[in-house]
Amino acid sequence: MAIPPSYIQELTARNDIYDVVSRYVSLKRAGRLYKGLCPFHNERSPSFMIYPETQSYYCFGCGAGGDVIKFVMEMNSLSYIEAIRFLAQSCGMPMPEEDDGAAKVKSRVLQMNKLAAQFFYRSLNSDAGRNARKYLRDRQLSDKTIVNFGLGYADAGWQSLTDYLKGKGFSEDEMVSAYLAARGKNGRVYDIFRDRVMFPIIDLRGNVIAFGGRIMGDASGPKYLNSSDTPVFKKSNGLFALNLAKKSGKDTFILAEGYMDVIAMHQAGFNNAVATLGTALTQQQVKLISDYAKRVVISYDSDEAGQKATRRAMELFSKAEVSVRVLQMNGAKDPDEFIKKYGRQRFQMLIDQSDSALDFNLSKLKSQYDISNPEQRVEYLTKACDILATLNNAIRQDVYCTRLANETGTDKAAIKLQLERARSKKRRIQNYQKEKELLKNPLTRNVKADWRQKESTVQKTFAQQQIVCAILRNNSLYDVVKNRLTAKNFTDGDMRAVYTACQDLLESGQAADYSVLAHSLPQQAAQTLAGIFARNADIIITEKDVLMHIENLLTAKLSQREAGEKSVEEIARRIELLKGKKK
Ligand code: GTP
Ligand code: MN
Repeated sequence: MAIPPSYIQELTARNDIYDVVSRYVSLKRAGRLYKGLCPFHNERSPSFMIYPETQSYYCFGCGAGGDVIKFVMEMNSLSYIEAIRFLAQSCGMPMPEEDDGAAKVKSRVLQMNKLAAQFFYRSLNSDAGRNARKYLRDRQLSDKTIVNFGLGYADAGWQSLTDYLKGKGFSEDEMVSAYLAARGKNGRVYDIFRDRVMFPIIDLRGNVIAFGGRIMGDASGPKYLNSSDTPVFKKSNGLFALNLAKKSGKDTFILAEGYMDVIAMHQAGFNNAVATLGTALTQQQVKLISDYAKRVVISYDSDEAGQKATRRAMELFSKAEVSVRVLQMNGAKDPDEFIKKYGRQRFQMLIDQSDSALDFNLSKLKSQYDISNPEQRVEYLTKACDILATLNNAIRQDVYCTRLANETGTDKAAIKLQLERARSKKRRIQNYQKEKELLKNPLTRNVKADWRQKESTVQKTFAQQQIVCAILRNNSLYDVVKNRLTAKNFTDGDMRAVYTACQDLLESGQAADYSVLAHSLPQQAAQTLAGIFARNADIIITEKDVLMHIENLLTAKLSQREAGEKSVEEIARRIELLKGKKK
């Protein structure tokens, strides 16, 4: 649905970009702007900027940029309409009429899921649920735990849930799209979850977004059946019990493999445990965890598969802003079993003693070598130095060098020398990667593609960018421009789109600002615009400047060589320099 510009204007006025972003990113003031670590890519020094004047954000590292609505969309994986609703709710504004189609489908699926969860819960407590109750009791779950997790039971019938949802006015197609029912060869729909203990998966807003269903006793079929992707659920983004772990208020999370592990841990008081949903850990889940926790203790199964998954998970976490520890369990296959066998205190001890990722890596490495053999000893130490090179704390490096020296009876000085080599190798690789990233920056990249073909394109594009930036920051400059240029003078597609949109608004007596434009423009143009605001944050563009840019645009006059070699940023810098000289 089309949202009127006046609504967007009020919404964005009431949701200051600084206020909204600072809920997710810790921001520091830097003059007239704010700086922080970009939430859209991993970085160690801040290149993510907030510009209160234009109410925009831009990351010089990855090129992400936009206004407050775009930010909320990207941050929470919401559609445009959902982001608007999100912001409207947070400032208490009513939504402008009607929903769009996609949002309606989602809300129908959520309604079905909620009804289904309640239906399963009631079944668990009915006659049909006797076996399931016994199963959960045998697994030592208390009534309180069952309620806390909203566990339920899908009975053995083929049409129990489908009939119930039909009675509530849902169509067969809707049930299939929610992954609650499937359509058989004969065209009839039937319940997907039958005779299983049901685990609802609940998101941070309390919506039931999916289910896991466990078989009981020795019935045939897969042990767990999990919802596949639906309009409201993506397996690779979800975490079981994230809603509860977040509520725990703890800044460490425990990450397990299974539903039952998480439930057993919560019951034993470890209410900061979460699990993936039967798939290998993904980068999105890592991001989700690092949004809410500073530390994570990986607590996977002790078998071969679990240990392999642990190494994989550690690698994913190593790129995120979250510190990792690894729990080493002996005498039980998973946390559920461990807690049952040895109790909560011993489990707490495991957590307290959990190895840092570094210890874990070193001890795994060591176990692959026979240290008494000189060749293998050398190989072990060389690889260990590669691991130590990733530390950015010299004291820790020294401590570990001493340890390695004692452990292998090697001269510590030699180990330190090797460590230095490993570090400079790592620096070389990092520098190379930095260069590659710079090349990926969309602000430079986009224009470069053009200026190989046409030497004046860069300069012209730059002039156009400055002109629209000036107009958007100060609408009164539009009069200066409109007397000298028409939309046709804007040779850059994105800039022409921006200028035309400004024209439409200003000619009809409305204000033209980024909040409104950002959503009538193509995505690419809106993002480029955020980059332009970012580049000009500290630059005042006067009427005189605008006239100069108009002049430049009409008579693009850089030499062929200059235009060919210079990026937009370089030209911007040069023009600043020239202006400075004149003064
Ligand atoms: P219990 O055997 O009940 O203690 O299960 P658990 O929670 O310990 O799970 P387990 O370690 O066996 O498996 C980890 C996770 O993988 C489960 O929570 C499920 O999400 C998933 N999983 C396990 N078995 C299956 C299966 O047969 N099919 C699918 N799709 N997922 C499974
Ligand atoms: Mn288990």
